Amino acid sequence: MAARHEGRVAIVTGGASGIGKGCVERYVADGASVVIADIATENANALADSLGDKVRAITCDVTDEAQVTAMVDETVGHFGRLDFMVNNAGFVIWRSLLDTSAETWRNMMDVNITGIFLSMKAGAKAMIDQGEGGVIINASSGGGRHGVANVGHYCATKAAIIMMSQAAAGEWASHKIRVNCYTPGHIETPMMEGLLKDIGDAQSMTRDEAYKMLEDTVPWGRWGKPEDVAATVSWLCTNDAEYISGQCIAMNGAELPW
Ligand SMILES: NC(=O)c1ccc[n+]([C@@H]2O[C@H](COP(=O)([O-])OP(=O)(O)OC[C@H]3O[C@@H](n4cnc5c(N)ncnc54)[C@H](O)[C@@H]3O)[C@@H](O)[C@H]2O)c1
Repeated sequence: MAARHEGRVAIVTGGASGIGKGCVERYVADGASVVIADIATENANALADSLGDKVRAITCDVTDEAQVTAMVDETVGHFGRLDFMVNNAGFVIWRSLLDTSAETWRNMMDVNITGIFLSMKAGAKAMIDQGEGGVIINASSGGGRHGVANVGHYCATKAAIIMMSQAAAGEWASHKIRVNCYTPGHIETPMMEGLLKDIGDAQSMTRDEAYKMLEDTVPWGRWGKPEDVAATVSWLCTNDAEYISGQCIAMNGAELPW
């Protein structure tokens, strides 16, 4: 039996690390060709080299519309089409709202909201031109459903992603483009290692104590892994999910209220 995404082409922004890397690896296992679009050129190239000819790395800062458009054009030029787009690039910092400068706030909005908007728009245009529909999946977060102390700036961006995705789902349904979001809980990635360090420093804990503190909030009893998110992303790209659009799907081990 052919792999479920054989002959399909995907872009994963922020695909060089963490959840994005998990999505790239899963798409390859499912038979798709993939573009890793990331500012971390070295990591992106190394990952692409390790996965073979079906994977290409393109250096792209998602906050720059010209770079995003060129990256989508290069994807279609090289692989011939675009079916799936995972707009995943983003970052978090641990900082109270009182300590957040206007510059930090704007940078967070730029990467986490504008970056996803620009990527989603460029991907949708390519899919509309192609005329065969497509699937767009945007990275929100549990923090987009529920405000969390010391990541208020981040929560604001992730809530915006949910609303933007719902609006896009309505706008592009007539083109058979589905738009959904994922809202993970705690997933083991380099981004979360940084957050664990910040929490540890702020609360005088070791990294392992901070890890355990967060793990104890998860009824399922473990942190999530990039593969947990990638499995849902892969399924959302199948025809079994054909009637699912404008939704956000959590992978969080029953952690509430996220
Ligand atoms: N890890 C979690 O627990 C978690 C939970 C909820 C939501 N998320 C979201 O999932 C996404 C991925 O998170 P992760 O933990 O895998 O992070 P990560 O730091 O491991 O990977 C993020 C990748 O995005 C890239 N990137 C950052 N800014 C970019 C830009 N301007 N242009 C292009 N690429 C850029 C980085 O170089 C990196 O390769 C983020 O949007 C994050 O907010 C993560």
